[in-house]
Amino acid sequence: PAMELTYYGHSCLSVNASGHDLLFDPFISGNPLASGIDPERIPATEILITHGHGDHVADAEAIAKRTNAVVVSNYEIAGWFSAKGVRSTLGLNIGGSAQVGPFRVKYVTALHSSQLPDGAYGGNPGGFVVNGPEGAFHHAGDTALTMDMQLLKAFGLRFACLPIGDHFTMGVQDAIAAAQLMGVKNVVGIHYNTFPPITIDTKAAMAAFAEAGLQLLLPAIGETIEI
Ligand code: NI
Ligand code: MN
Repeated sequence: PAMELTYYGHSCLSVNASGHDLLFDPFISGNPLASGIDPERIPATEILITHGHGDHVADAEAIAKRTNAVVVSNYEIAGWFSAKGVRSTLGLNIGGSAQVGPFRVKYVTALHSSQLPDGAYGGNPGGFVVNGPEGAFHHAGDTALTMDMQLLKAFGLRFACLPIGDHFTMGVQDAIAAAQLMGVKNVVGIHYNTFPPITIDTKAAMAAFAEAGLQLLLPAIGETIEI
């Protein structure tokens, strides 16, 4: 069975699988490119947050309170949302996994930093592997290329969402190397074009992935694709 992925800009996307709407890193109201998206209409049964930076958490509290979605993140970020009155949270730490509905969700290594918008400690940054009835996929959050990525090959990933904007995260060449380490052919590009320092040539990026025998998917903001 297919999964559906809806892209909301930057690193925010939703994966619809097994009747769930898994929403990652909601950052809509502060994203100038996502002005056509109404965060109050985004469905979510789970909200997965890779790290504490504002461009990954901005709309999470409001969406969690409206939808009663469970906020899944690291222990520190889960506690921060809990203190804000978010009813349901799940705090993992690197290498740990938990059952979330029909999915096994694992919080995996990301090489980055993590601080919440109010200056609170945001724990260690991470990415997620979600493994469910439709197969496994990965959302890398913000990360550098790291050899730990070869550990994800064992999941037989159907697709991976990888940052390609450079400057704060991997750029295109490192994302290609990451996909090769993970053994994944289908990559959804995230964390690009939102701000001047992460603006890239998307045509060149797609060509570079194709040359490596990989597919770079860049859905438009608001677009839903089958994956
Ligand atoms: Ni970040
Ligand atoms: Mn970021």
